[in-house]
Amino acid sequence: MSLWYCSVCHSEFTSKEKPATCDGCQSDDRMIMETPSIPRNLDAVRDAARKKMKGICAVYPSCDGNFDKICQKEAYGKPIGLGGAGSGQSFRANGTALAAIRFNMSVVGEHFEPDTRCSFLGMDLDFPVLASSTAGAEKYNDAIDETAFCKSVLLGSKEAGTIGLRGDTWFYTPENHPSLKAMKDCGGYGIPIFKPRSQEVLKELIERAESYGCFAVGVDLDGAGSTIMAREGQPVFKKSVKDIEELVRFSSLPFIAKGIMRPDDAQKCVDAGVSVIGVSNHGGRVLDATPGTAEVLPLIREQVGDLVTITVDGGVRTGYDVLKMLALGADAVLLGRDIIRAAVGGGTLGVRLHLDHIHTTLKKAMFMTGTKTIQMVDSNILF
Ligand SMILES: Cc1cc2nc3c(=O)[nH]c(=O)nc-3n(C[C@H](O)[C@H](O)[C@H](O)COP(=O)(O)O)c2cc1C
Repeated sequence: MSLWYCSVCHSEFTSKEKPATCDGCQSDDRMIMETPSIPRNLDAVRDAARKKMKGICAVYPSCDGNFDKICQKEAYGKPIGLGGAGSGQSFRANGTALAAIRFNMSVVGEHFEPDTRCSFLGMDLDFPVLASSTAGAEKYNDAIDETAFCKSVLLGSKEAGTIGLRGDTWFYTPENHPSLKAMKDCGGYGIPIFKPRSQEVLKELIERAESYGCFAVGVDLDGAGSTIMAREGQPVFKKSVKDIEELVRFSSLPFIAKGIMRPDDAQKCVDAGVSVIGVSNHGGRVLDATPGTAEVLPLIREQVGDLVTITVDGGVRTGYDVLKMLALGADAVLLGRDIIRAAVGGGTLGVRLHLDHIHTTLKKAMFMTGTKTIQMVDSNILF
């Protein structure tokens, strides 16, 4: 007899053969492992992801979109995988922009324990880092079922004391939508971000998110250029201020406009009544040659003022990067590729281990810059 473990819901079973599905959460055997191979730390999670994503992502110590990385090799006509659009300039710009920002170290003063607690849309979180909306992991060597992937992100985020966003892609349909299925199974503990589908389809998806008890809804407005969505019979559209306003009014939940890179676009979304501006270039996947998000974030904060919540994502790999983004004006910071790798490598446990690691390095960054609380973060900690 062997002891088996489900990396999505943590159920354990004793049986001779590997169970085909988990009795607890119905995840298939791709998420079930013998207990000795449960990843005990983040290195083990990343090693497992490296094996499962062979040829797609090598889980490098630095995920920067440089040409030495397999995701960014010239791949004309091939799927984008985890890479960036075109020559990858936007993907690289995210990392380069963050690397150009440096801290003022502050070591004289009373000893303190950094307090990372914060509020996001009225929710109390242990720290201001969320899993970003991503979709499509099932297509990476068939290593993970898409719903199990979504559940891993939602449950892992919750266990780490925060919340996960979930995405939308060409093989998600209104009838078969893994992110909404996962939301339902997780009691609505999550935030779905939908592709800019037709207003009618969006309203139907938003209604379902509301019925599952989700905390907010949103649209990645920068998903409008996706050609694969249209090819697969799931057309997407550029949204006008009127369209956004209509969705904001339609939903009883806070609305997130994700994919904003310009102060004037941000202002239009604020005028349309959104609750959150999601500063993002989609990890450099929707347009080549944009600036890094860390470059535009302060301009957008300056434009919209302090009353609107701002999230940012793009190239954030450590708690140090998180603190930089907070100091540049973000209220919360989202992680994309690292959370995909964590979920593929270790399910819910992998996501929790990754977020715990980010939480720890955020505390270190706060301590070394003399930042006692999240509310006290300001641009003076930057050099
Ligand atoms: C493989 C992959 C799939 C993604 N899918 C979505 C999606 O479905 N919806 C969305 O809003 N953003 C999507 N994104 C963008 C992320 O939400 C986020 O903006 C980006 O990954 C942040 O950059 P990072 O990966 O460098 O952390 C995706 C990104 C990746 C890498």
